[in-house]
Amino acid sequence: MDAGKQKSAAIEVQGLAFTYPDGTEALRGVTFAVAGGEAVGLVGPNGAGKSTLTWLLSGFLEPAAGCARICGLDVCKANLAQVRRRLGVIFQNPDDQLFMPTLFDDVAFGLLNLDSDSGASSGKNKRHGRDTHAGAIEARVIEALQQVGLESERHRFAGHLSAGQKRLAALAAVLVVQPDVLVLDEPTSDLDPRARRRFIEQMQTLPQTRLIASHDLEMILDLCPRVLLLDQGVVAADGPAVEILGDAALVESHGLEVPYSLRRDHTHRFPLRGTPHEMEHRKQDARPASGGSSSPQP
Ligand SMILES: Nc1ncnc2c1ncn2[C@@H]1O[C@H](COP(=O)(O)OP(=O)(O)OP(=O)(O)O)[C@@H](O)[C@H]1O
Ligand SMILES: [Mg+2]
Repeated sequence: MDAGKQKSAAIEVQGLAFTYPDGTEALRGVTFAVAGGEAVGLVGPNGAGKSTLTWLLSGFLEPAAGCARICGLDVCKANLAQVRRRLGVIFQNPDDQLFMPTLFDDVAFGLLNLDSDSGASSGKNKRHGRDTHAGAIEARVIEALQQVGLESERHRFAGHLSAGQKRLAALAAVLVVQPDVLVLDEPTSDLDPRARRRFIEQMQTLPQTRLIASHDLEMILDLCPRVLLLDQGVVAADGPAVEILGDAALVESHGLEVPYSLRRDHTHRFPLRGTPHEMEHRKQDARPASGGSSSPQP
């Protein structure tokens, strides 16, 4: 918390609480701040409240108590248009944000909204300006689709894409707008290794403030020097990612595991390497018992 508590916090959350209509208390007083340009991982077991927090930050849910601020703006109805210009969110379920007739339109949607807010096509040479502007928007949309490897799918209905393709489509729709703050909920789930690696590399080059909720702890380690551990609607730990995720007692008490790359004994779960002596033992263990055979006996 202290790490992010600076004057220019890009995300500020103070005493945030939320209860669903069925009485489930999803958040019970969450407080933290993320400084401009910081990348913070949001981890915690299933049901911890990570996704609920992303919905509250984007203003789709209203808190029962406390408040959230994005770039100094209170997330409330009066500010929603301004907040959404600064904030790009990928929800855990990409179907929540892909609804246009084609993938191209889905990715263009945010840009066109920004455009209509700023009245960019007004002016003397209105028609010419509009054409140039439409061309610029098209170029940006195509570039965003190329960055996630989906350019060839641009005429398709996003609802018909595969789960991983939908997640990449949601990513393109957010990145094309170049918001100041990114809140990404499970951005790597469903991605194949190449797409996941490309996502990580893209994120490493971005200057934006990032809050990334995920169970992909290796990705969190790659991207986030700091981690918030959420459980049962409260912040259970907040600090350096390596320290928090490397603390077996802490993470295991919250339903997580120390990521493979932070384990001291790498051979414990993945016995791919070892001394020649150990390798020989493993080979012997792997051999069928004497006289045994894997093929059916006549
Ligand atoms: N629409 C809803 N109505 C009632 N309760 C809900 C609703 N959505 C979520 N919850 C509950 O709110 C709590 C927090 O859920 P949330 O989806 O925020 O957790 P999460 O940390 O994102 O979990 P996961 O890791 O599985 O994505 C859980 O107890 C969940 O059952
Ligand atoms: Mg979730």
